[in-house]
Amino acid sequence: MIQTPNKALNEWIKEIADMCQPDDVYLADGSQEEYDRMIQICVDAGLATPLNPAKRPGCYLFRSHPSDVARAEKRTFIASKKQEDAGPTNNWIDPDELKATMRGLYKGCMKGRTMYVIPFSMGPVGSYISKIGVEISDSPYVVINMRIMTRMGKAVLDALGADGEFVRCLHSVGKPLGPGEKDESWPCIPNVDEKYISHFPEERMIWSIGSGYGGNALLGKKCFALRIAGVQARDEGWMAEHMLILKLTDPAGKVHYVCGAFPSACGKTNLAMLEPTIPGWKVETVGDDIAWMKFGKDGRLYAINPEAGFFGVVPGTSMDSNPNAFRQIQKNTIFTNVGLTDDGDVWWEGSGVPAPAHLIDWKGNDWTPDSKEPAAHANARFTTPAAQCEVIAPEWEDPAGVPISAILIGGRRKTTVPLVNESTDWNNGIFLGSIMGSEITTADITDKVGQVRRDPFAMLPFMGYHMGDYLKHWISIGKKTDAGKLPKIYFVNWFRKNDEGKFMWPGFGDNSRVLKWIMERIDGTGKAVETPIGNLPAPGAIDISGLDVTEDDMAHLLEVDKEAWKIEAANIRKDYEIYGDRLPKELADELAKLEKALG
Ligand code: GTP
Ligand code: SPV
Ligand code: MN
Repeated sequence: MIQTPNKALNEWIKEIADMCQPDDVYLADGSQEEYDRMIQICVDAGLATPLNPAKRPGCYLFRSHPSDVARAEKRTFIASKKQEDAGPTNNWIDPDELKATMRGLYKGCMKGRTMYVIPFSMGPVGSYISKIGVEISDSPYVVINMRIMTRMGKAVLDALGADGEFVRCLHSVGKPLGPGEKDESWPCIPNVDEKYISHFPEERMIWSIGSGYGGNALLGKKCFALRIAGVQARDEGWMAEHMLILKLTDPAGKVHYVCGAFPSACGKTNLAMLEPTIPGWKVETVGDDIAWMKFGKDGRLYAINPEAGFFGVVPGTSMDSNPNAFRQIQKNTIFTNVGLTDDGDVWWEGSGVPAPAHLIDWKGNDWTPDSKEPAAHANARFTTPAAQCEVIAPEWEDPAGVPISAILIGGRRKTTVPLVNESTDWNNGIFLGSIMGSEITTADITDKVGQVRRDPFAMLPFMGYHMGDYLKHWISIGKKTDAGKLPKIYFVNWFRKNDEGKFMWPGFGDNSRVLKWIMERIDGTGKAVETPIGNLPAPGAIDISGLDVTEDDMAHLLEVDKEAWKIEAANIRKDYEIYGDRLPKELADELAKLEKALG
């Protein structure tokens, strides 16, 4: 059995090996040589295809099982000791019962495979904000991806030392191999109802089985950095949020750092690396998905990006929508579930590159532009090192983090919610965060199409405890410092549609125009009008020079439709019922204030 300097880790490795019965146990060191070797294992097994080095040096394509293409929210569990602590928005199973079930599934599940032990740090190794985890997995795909997404290997083990604490992250694809048996395709448990992505918040522990994809398998990301870290943050007085972090520099050289909470597939990666369309402004990237924030000595909130890579949505990534990401994924990138062209490159819908006459689609079938099915799965992803981003901010790995001036929040709302709305104070901002959400689309397979699903601070799928207590935690953060030192909260909506169903706001690089107004507000020069829902840009205050949007459209994008907001307020009151007596009084007060202002 492998030995590490950490006794608790050694015991845990032995316990898991005894249960899962792998053929081998391997401790990952995080080296380039090891990364190359893991990829070769995947290539030899037929799970990965090397791309043409003349076109995409260092890039590989994986195709997942068609049943295993995204996070499985229905199969994600928060197994706190008491059900009420998981709250009304989470799936709960009694932890003892869940462990018994899962031990049954884990028994012998790694037969015929190697068990990889992956020490990783969320955040720069040694930063006071960072935390260490160890993932045990039987998937070399996970090892490869964890090396890009986290700081991983020997340096982390050294930092952990003999008695350091770590979050236990156990993962198996759930497909043991018989003697001489080989994987014929991406291994997983195809039946969704047999997958488990389980969290034991009191023990700071994660158990996942049956899926090899994304957040189900790369356990440092949503499972640890949001669900478990959220519980740690509540207990320790900091914040673990589903937010991008960007650095904004104005033409005079003044810098502000901004966080943004948007639900999955609502534009975090795009905003984090946007190319401003207004002259003289610059955006650089600190993080594209997760922010951990702690108070600095000066009483301001400082954020770090706990990740080291981007696991981004591929379809729609083009030189028009996100040129920085497009350039970043030309090399040293893992692609999952995109099309493979005949000359060994990748292709996807919305790439801006003309479709080739023939390719192999994400399911491994022949594809032509006449095919009815898309070449790339809608949730196809790239895994790419953050350091390789051309606009990565030089301070992105600063262990002290960056001081946050503003927090943006928003979902996809085709009506009612204006382009941008400034909260009047911290608690009012939390109120806006608590009511954010997106209209349910036909993709969600429910009868609730068109209704708003509330997704407070984009954390609905990533909550490790009771959502009402989470909102209370936000309020308590506001009491820890002077009001003037807190970031200002802005509600934004890039997704407003006109009567013809078209987006009214150009979005992407033009979102810099909204960022500009926000910076002007923070610096005290931006003009605003007070409305019942908050402060909106005064007419003409948003710079639309050179933009094909009329003053009429702008008026529409910035209108506060009182009748629509009265319906919204009534819906909020109904949606708030799920919190019962755990709804913070401050938010009930904010709702009452809104209702009164609307008359
Ligand atoms: P996750 O990685 O799932 O957390 O997603 P994300 O929040 O990082 O979203 P991403 O930036 O990958 O964008 C998702 C989709 O939203 C893509 O199809 C984008 O083209 C689209 N999108 C991003 N920004 C905008 C925008 O400003 N306007 C419009 N209309 N669409 C946008
Ligand atoms: C998201 O869904 O918000 C993601 C992808 O960032 S995953 O890592 O799979 O959760
Ligand atoms: Mn995300």
